[in-house]
Amino acid sequence: MMFTAKTSRIEQIKSDCLVIGVHTDGELSENAIYLEQNSHISFADLFKSKELTGKAGEILTLHQVNDRIKKVIIVGFGDKNNATPSQYRSSIQACAKHLSNKNTKKANVCFDDISVEGWSEQDKAQYCAQSITHAYYQFTACKSNKVAKKSFAVQYHSKSTKAVNTGLNTGYATGLGMNVARELGNLPGNICTPKYLANEARKLAKAHKSVTTKILSEKQMKELGMGSLLSVSAGSIEPAQLIVMEYKGAAKTEKPHVLVGKGITFDTGGISIKPSGTMDEMKFDMCGAASVFGTMNTIATLAPKMNVVGIVAAAENMPSGNATKPGDIVTSMSGKTIEILNTDAEGRLVLCDALSYAERYKPQSVIDIATLTGACVVALGSQASGLFSNNEQLSGELVSAGEKTGDRTWPMPLWDEYKKQLKSNFADLANIGGREAGSITAACFLSYFAESYPWAHLDIAGIAWLSGSNKGATGRPVPMLTDYLLSKENTTK
Ligand code: BES
Ligand code: MN
Ligand code: ZN
Repeated sequence: MMFTAKTSRIEQIKSDCLVIGVHTDGELSENAIYLEQNSHISFADLFKSKELTGKAGEILTLHQVNDRIKKVIIVGFGDKNNATPSQYRSSIQACAKHLSNKNTKKANVCFDDISVEGWSEQDKAQYCAQSITHAYYQFTACKSNKVAKKSFAVQYHSKSTKAVNTGLNTGYATGLGMNVARELGNLPGNICTPKYLANEARKLAKAHKSVTTKILSEKQMKELGMGSLLSVSAGSIEPAQLIVMEYKGAAKTEKPHVLVGKGITFDTGGISIKPSGTMDEMKFDMCGAASVFGTMNTIATLAPKMNVVGIVAAAENMPSGNATKPGDIVTSMSGKTIEILNTDAEGRLVLCDALSYAERYKPQSVIDIATLTGACVVALGSQASGLFSNNEQLSGELVSAGEKTGDRTWPMPLWDEYKKQLKSNFADLANIGGREAGSITAACFLSYFAESYPWAHLDIAGIAWLSGSNKGATGRPVPMLTDYLLSKENTTK
């Protein structure tokens, strides 16, 4: 994959595959006007015959345009007077998917005359590069016939090369980060174990001088008092791993932003076992961790002047003779005792100790990312992740980052009244809060372990993967996390 910013205008381009945009209102954009005047194409006829309507996501390919342009792909961008970012995104997604399906190897993209409300040329280029990189991803790791990965060279034409180059680089790095997350998510539980994830961190540190990594064994976790995390891996032959990745792009004294990922490499539910219907999808229960790996990759590539720490709590949740039983009481690293009433509410049990571990960094902010509750899928579906925070500024910044990238999140409450649902007769806290408000009580549980820093929890159960015929990890919320972190770069140093 390669993206290059070019200033050459359409009349100078010689191309096997030119990509331009049109709107629905029939008023032609500059590039379409040029083509109309310099080829046999009549846009009036195309619109009249409804061969082309310009609606968002529409694709029309025409061949033998003129002696310099072999083929033009015309992309519909919807109504020009209503050019919202979300319409632009859906058009770009359709275009990227089309280019990937056709295995396009080289293209000249000219969207400089397409306007998007509130967006700069840089923003447009960034989303384009991200979306194309995302569309060219294929999962081949477990196929015997490993089709060669497609490679694609994109020349992106625009007036302002410098800003557009920055956009292309950021978008490309974000797309690659999403693909890192997707690959880890898609790998099955028998391959992608806690140890596999630990190796992934070692690989990241090898590839980037700015990243160091530290893996804590079960023995080390026991010494730290992580009885809650260890209760989850108790039933598995795969030992839990606490994976720490430190990216240094600023002075040691500068406090980091911390990401904490839920890395349940397979969630059977444990003794509170899940029904078997779609249990295979519980290989995706490490998608929070995968988004931490993806974002750390993107950050290490873009090298902003800031410090970022990624922490992954990796374990497999299995039933066995050694497994934790309903009613068991464990002591967390914080000292709080927890009555485990349901072993399927395991995400919060691994995260709470990882959140306590994060305290040592005196972090500027901590964001945990977790496929935590089925209730969140019911509440928000697959559009937005659930956002819970003890800090209004942080919460607002994450909502903005989500809106900007189209990788949305939406705030949910953490009121004290909900916290009462976690009362236990035998320990400090119960690990479940009853049938009502399941995603909120899960977040309330976590809030007790995140009292010493600005904290946000993202419940990504509804957005991390797709089910059905498109089953697969999405790579979300890497774009939102990347955007948030980059906005915190210390550009004065
Ligand atoms: N990993 C699941 C949450 C989940 C379920 C995500 C289905 C996406 C789809 C989590 O560990 C879990 O099992 N949560 C339980 C909590 C309950 C026992 C309080 C749930 O949501 O049912
Ligand atoms: Mn579970
Ligand atoms: Zn789970």
